[in-house]
Amino acid sequence: MISPVFILFVSFLCHVAVAGRTRVCPFAGILENGAVRYTTFEYPNMISFSCNTGFYLNGTNSAKCTEEGTWSPAPPVCAPITCPPPPVPKFATLKAYKPSIGNNSLYRDRAVFECLPHHAMFGNDTVTCTAHGNWTELPECREVKCPFPSRPDNGFVNYPAKPVLLYKDKAKFGCHDTYSLDGPDEVECTKLGNWSAQPSCKVSCKISIKKATVIYQGERVKIQEQFKNGMKHGDKVSFFCKNKEKKCSYTEEAQCIDGTLEVPKCFKEHSSLAFWKTDASDVKPC
Ligand SMILES: *[C@@H]1O[C@H](CO)[C@@H](O)[C@H](O)[C@H]1NC(C)=O
Ligand SMILES: *[C@@H]1O[C@H](CO)[C@@H](O)[C@H](O)[C@H]1NC(C)=O
Ligand SMILES: *[C@@H]1O[C@H](CO)[C@@H](O)[C@H](O)[C@H]1NC(C)=O
Ligand SMILES: *[C@@H]1O[C@H](CO)[C@@H](O)[C@H](O)[C@H]1NC(C)=O
Ligand SMILES: *[C@@H]1O[C@H](CO)[C@@H](O)[C@H](O)[C@H]1NC(C)=O
Repeated sequence: MISPVFILFVSFLCHVAVAGRTRVCPFAGILENGAVRYTTFEYPNMISFSCNTGFYLNGTNSAKCTEEGTWSPAPPVCAPITCPPPPVPKFATLKAYKPSIGNNSLYRDRAVFECLPHHAMFGNDTVTCTAHGNWTELPECREVKCPFPSRPDNGFVNYPAKPVLLYKDKAKFGCHDTYSLDGPDEVECTKLGNWSAQPSCKVSCKISIKKATVIYQGERVKIQEQFKNGMKHGDKVSFFCKNKEKKCSYTEEAQCIDGTLEVPKCFKEHSSLAFWKTDASDVKPC
């Protein structure tokens, strides 16, 4: 006969055993925008947390399953990293910027600055919201002055009639008759405070040859017509020459340098009376 006291005692033992086996904490294997490292969710194990890039742990990086079957401390959340609106440097304006959460920006969001007119930018125009919740280094905008450009010999220069010339101001150059520009006809005040180039005037070349077909910028042209007003400094033409043995033609290049065009020695100019002679430019190429 089993005594009721004994049954009660056995049932008490069972309860203790079951309680011992059920010291398990709630499932905590998923952390939104992060990851959880765990073995089991049972007492007395620890689990640890980390967040994906762009998020930070709001809370602790580990928690313990207690005897009571609860996590201590409570699991954290991964909250997005944000940057406050970027500070705007002096003499700059925001060209592209859109807050993406409330008034703030998210990790890796960008903002682009622009300098006020006549101010040059030093540094990167683009800043990025970093994992520290601040922006990458801001650029600087500075007023830049250029000296008045000097007039080239045998030429002229025009620039805005202002007391000072500033970044991005332009100056235009030209040359007197029979001279041509060596360099661009327009220059700009650079961020370094000098002009983008210093054009000068060079003498044009007078063409001493009366008649010749030459190649100029890939086209066959008559030299006397193409360069009626002289040839500009730096211009290049190719003359036709004859290879007598092989009865064929080849070309040689000549360039106008500061008033002088050295005609290739192989080039032979025919008298206009020598009509029976074939011009080199009409002979098949070698
Ligand atoms: C961070 O956690 C605290 C406490 O749980 C909460 O009040 C706060 O709103 C959380 N912040 C974010 C950005 O989630
Ligand atoms: C954004 O900034 C404005 C001006 O400072 C403020 O009035 C507003 O409450 C802010 N909004 C949020 C969502 O923080
Ligand atoms: C400016 O910064 C952006 C991102 O912050 C980068 O992608 C870019 O290459 C930088 N530009 C220069 C010229 O350094
Ligand atoms: C952003 O914050 C980090 C950490 O506080 C700091 O090391 C860094 O210099 C800051 N960056 C800028 C551009 O201020
Ligand atoms: C402008 O000044 C810089 C630095 O002084 C120099 O390196 C550069 O060659 C100058 N540019 C011209 C076109 O003279």
